[in-house]
Amino acid sequence: MVSAGFESAREDVNVREWVDGWVVSRGASAPLLEPWGYTIHVGQIPHVARHVLAATNDAVLEADVRKATESARGLNWHLKVFADPERVLPWLAPGWEPYGSGDYLMVTELDASETVPGPPPGYRLHTWDRGGVTRVLLTDSDGSFAARGQIAPVGASAVVDQIETAEEHRRRGLGKVVMRTLHAAARAQGSTRAVLACTPEGRLLYEAVGWRTVAPLTNAKFVG
Ligand SMILES: CC(C)(COP(=O)(O)OP(=O)(O)OC[C@H]1O[C@@H](n2cnc3c(N)ncnc32)[C@H](O)[C@@H]1OP(=O)(O)O)[C@@H](O)C(=O)NCCC(=O)NCCS
Repeated sequence: MVSAGFESAREDVNVREWVDGWVVSRGASAPLLEPWGYTIHVGQIPHVARHVLAATNDAVLEADVRKATESARGLNWHLKVFADPERVLPWLAPGWEPYGSGDYLMVTELDASETVPGPPPGYRLHTWDRGGVTRVLLTDSDGSFAARGQIAPVGASAVVDQIETAEEHRRRGLGKVVMRTLHAAARAQGSTRAVLACTPEGRLLYEAVGWRTVAPLTNAKFVG
């Protein structure tokens, strides 16, 4: 678990937990502590590294966004700020381009009484653990991909990541099966709550299984 390298009153514990779990989920570097948050090396051509602001909503300060976007950067470095894009975007240093919209930071308590449904008829459920990450895969009757997701439990908090249902299998409850299976896996590993960053479509699924929003997410990447 990382600890704040900045004024801790402005740190949102949900962000710190998201960062701690996300780096496990993606096999990224340990977060480097910055005066305004965290820098993580991801190591992929489209996603070299990312800066994440530690505060959320109104606690995100213009000076911190400016410092973060003026600090170490290169092509395909990303920025994650959990605050309203209308406030944040005017503060980006030159060379940063926004992407995505309607994304959010979300949290939930992991309810021990939640029942875990089996896969709908015709689908098969596969789960496995590797490197601190539990993965769930649903395949259809001919073995092809239907849905997936993963969770990284890091102590009391777990991070849900990379939830996806193939287009032709959507709205059949597969996302719910994936989520509830992941919730149960994290509970079994000792987590009592979970956090994630979502797309607008993901938000609808997560709300349907008990999650709530904490803050909007502003995304940008450095394009030079
Ligand atoms: C988000 C996603 C995983 C949902 O998967 P899914 O298998 O279709 O989800 P489910 O069928 O289990 O949906 C469960 C509930 O979530 C809500 N929901 C999910 N998708 C919705 C949509 N497009 N519109 C409205 N409600 C939606 C509904 O309440 C739904 O219940 P209902 O069908 O009985 O109304 C899928 O749309 C997807 O892969 N999207 C692209 C990738 C993505 O954005 N992933 C999330 C990253 S954070």
